[in-house]
Formats: sequence, structure tokens, C-alpha cells
Amino acid sequence: MHKDIDMSLKIKDVIFENPIFTASGTFGFGYEFDDFIDISEVGGVVVKGLTLEPRKGNKVPRIAETAGGMLNSVGLENPGVEYFLSDILPKLKSKNVKVIANIAGNNIEDYCKMASKINDSSCDAVEMNISCPNVKQGGVAFGTNKDVVYEITKEVRACLDKPLIVKLSPNVTDIKEIAVSAQKGGADCISLINTLIGMAVDTKTRRPVLSNVIGGLSGPAIKPVALRLVWEVSKVVDIPIIGMGGIRDIDDVLQFMLVGASGVAIGTSNFIDPCITVKLANQLKEYLKENKYKSTQDIIGKIKL
Ligand SMILES: Cc1cc2nc3c(=O)[nH]c(=O)nc-3n(C[C@H](O)[C@H](O)[C@H](O)COP(=O)(O)O)c2cc1C
Repeated sequence: MHKDIDMSLKIKDVIFENPIFTASGTFGFGYEFDDFIDISEVGGVVVKGLTLEPRKGNKVPRIAETAGGMLNSVGLENPGVEYFLSDILPKLKSKNVKVIANIAGNNIEDYCKMASKINDSSCDAVEMNISCPNVKQGGVAFGTNKDVVYEITKEVRACLDKPLIVKLSPNVTDIKEIAVSAQKGGADCISLINTLIGMAVDTKTRRPVLSNVIGGLSGPAIKPVALRLVWEVSKVVDIPIIGMGGIRDIDDVLQFMLVGASGVAIGTSNFIDPCITVKLANQLKEYLKENKYKSTQDIIGKIKL
């Protein structure tokens, strides 16, 4: 690695050595990838979405391949935040990697309880998934209403000293007002996009492919949408953005950075190549070196319009 090239990403007071993260739900709890990569070379491991209580998730089938992507309706299967903190996090931190806890809840109180517990741990940051249904508001996702986004961000912020990343849903009318609300509420960083809502049908059985009927679309099929949304958000916030959605190669990484992402996360591509995050971190450094750039700042937001 070239020590003179700065790829670091600072979120609040935490410095991530490189800006290539894993996307929640596509990299397990990180250590499952031990046989493939040295996970300390990943900029940050964003773990599988955590809930206050353990969850079994949805019934199978909960994955379906689509043209250029996949649908999932895993339904937040996870062992619960307590187990994560006591049994998984210490193992993960012993690998010398930055860990970001992704949290999901049914109501604001759940999010706050989780944030408080994580605040007392060795976790490096929290990513708040606001694509979940808000039980108190009839199941409408938290992330679709700007006032709710402001409120939940403010409440969670009050329970957390660590960096707070708010992960936006693309299933909204105007992403800009949602991003501004998250920043106003005290977010240190915005990540986007979560999956787009989709569906697949088996024509032989005339039944939906997923037992949950609908699921989240991810992979290369969503990249143009993700790029457009990152670009729109980058024009209205001044906190760092982590962009994701269909990233497969270094050109994709550069595209997200040019439209304003300070970092990127890799999701579905991990299922094709478990070494992809580390490969991309190395390729980004090579790209900067070859072009005689000193830092990722020479690319971030530098799209020519
Ligand atoms: C199988 C699967 C599980 C996911 N689980 C979560 C999750 O628990 N929490 C979350 O915030 N996002 C989750 N996501 C969304 C990803 O983190 C990411 O935002 C999305 O897949 C877009 O990136 P990609 O196209 O690179 O996969 C999941 C995605 C997939 C494919």
C-alpha cells in the first residue's frame, strides 16, 4: 500500500482508513469471511441489521434472482443486539476492524434502547436503517416522512456519542427533504440506498416467488437509481455520504465518488466475490496513484456538469 495516498474517511471523530465498506445484510457479521480476506483491510464492516430482540426472519423462499440483481425478503433475521454485543462484537474487534452496528426497530424507543446499549460498547459507529415499518404509524416506513426522520434522528442522537449514520430508503418521493431532515436531526453521515421494493411471479404456479410476496431489489439493476439519489443528496447536505447500490467494480466506485459519495458500501457483489471489498480498496489506491492524486478528495463530488 502507498502510505502517501490518503484514502481515509472521517465520520464525526472516527477515522476509517479506507472508504470501502460492506453493506448491511450482505457480509454477515464479518468473521464469516475470514477464510477469504483479512477483514482488517475493509474500511468498515457494517453488520447484519440488529433488532432489540432476536428475530427468525421471514419464511423461505426469501431470495430470488432477477435480471441484473436479486430480491430479498430476509426479514431482519438476527440474534438480537445483546447477543451481538456480548458474543460477536469482541470476536470482530479482535480482528482490528472498524465495526458499524446497523439497527432496525418497530418504534423510536426500540432504536433509542439499542443506540444506548451500543454506545457503551467497543462498536465504532451506528447505522440506523429507517426503511423499517413504524408500528405506531400504521406500518409506514420511518424513512418516508421528513418529520419522522427528523424526530427519530434527534432522539437516537441524544442516546449516542458515537458517529450516527442514517441510511435512507429510495422508496420516497423526494430524497432531498429526507436527507436534510436527517442532517438537521444530528446525523453525522448519510448512507444510501437501501433496496427498492420489488416483486417476482412464478408463472407455473401463478404464485409470488417470495413467501413474503414483496422484497428488496439490489444489485447492478439499481445502480443508476442509486447514483442519481446520491447525487441529489450530495447537493443538499454537507455531511459525508456513503453511496451504495449495485457496485461491482472500480469504475462503479469512482462514479459514486464523483457524484458526491465520500465512501461506498458493497452489498450484493459480496455473494459473487467474497474478496470484492478488499480488491476495490486496493484498486482505488492504484487508481489514485496512477493519476497522481494525493487523496480521495480529488475525486469526491468532482463530476463535471
Ligand atoms: C440479502 C440482503 C440483506 C440485507 N439486509 C439489510 C439489513 O439488514 N439492513 C439494511 O440496512 N440493509 C440491508 N440490505 C440492503 C443493503 O445493505 C444495500 O443497501 C442494498 O442491497 C444495495 O446495495 P447492493 O446493490 O450493493 O446490494 C440487505 C440487502 C440484501 C441483498
